[in-house]
Amino acid sequence: MHYYYKKYPYMQYNYQDNDGFWKMFSIPPEILVSIFVYYLNHLPKTFFDCGAATGEIVYRAKKLGMIATGIDIKKYPYQNENLEKLFTDGKIKIKSILDCEPIKADIAYCNGTLTYFSESEIPQVLEKFRTCKMLTAIHNTTEDVIAARKQGDELLTCNKPRLIKNRDWWMKTFSDNGFSVEYENLANCFCMFPKTR
Ligand SMILES: C[S@@+](CC[C@H](N)C(=O)[O-])C[C@H]1O[C@@H](n2cnc3c(N)ncnc32)[C@H](O)[C@@H]1O
Repeated sequence: MHYYYKKYPYMQYNYQDNDGFWKMFSIPPEILVSIFVYYLNHLPKTFFDCGAATGEIVYRAKKLGMIATGIDIKKYPYQNENLEKLFTDGKIKIKSILDCEPIKADIAYCNGTLTYFSESEIPQVLEKFRTCKMLTAIHNTTEDVIAARKQGDELLTCNKPRLIKNRDWWMKTFSDNGFSVEYENLANCFCMFPKTR
């Protein structure tokens, strides 16, 4: 079984890119909502997917009753009608997080997205999320790359990650940039809350 199925057993979906068909691994918004409720004791109302890709997560978050929005730097070539509507309605915009105003959302979610940036850009990216109640991030770490390789898997993603660091580096980076951070072992994600300034 490919490493990704073990790390992210809760959600996989097929999508089409310019170079063919791929599988995306993610965390269902239901799980992110449970984490939010566990830490903050109330239901989230707003959801922001940073790197929304085809819009699948935004669509699911909306179906849960949240006001769900997102951005991505690229538009994928094909979406079904429901997903396409998120783009035509402006719920998902094609732009970089670096060009966004601070994000005001109860839950912000970055799946793989943080690995697109250089080390020096990360503080600027994280600053955008200091106005969210909770930021959740999943991406490959050095530990993942090594563990996957041990079982013969290369970690391919829809992105070309530049920033592969170990888990402790990410924990320290989140903390140094103004977040109280936990590693959620069940969902296998970084989960963080802005510290008061
Ligand atoms: C692994 S996909 C996430 C898919 C989706 N959020 C999910 O969980 O199913 C990561 C996405 O981040 C996007 N991305 C990369 N750099 C970005 C940036 N500067 N601003 C916004 N999105 C970015 C990529 O284009 C890619 O579609």
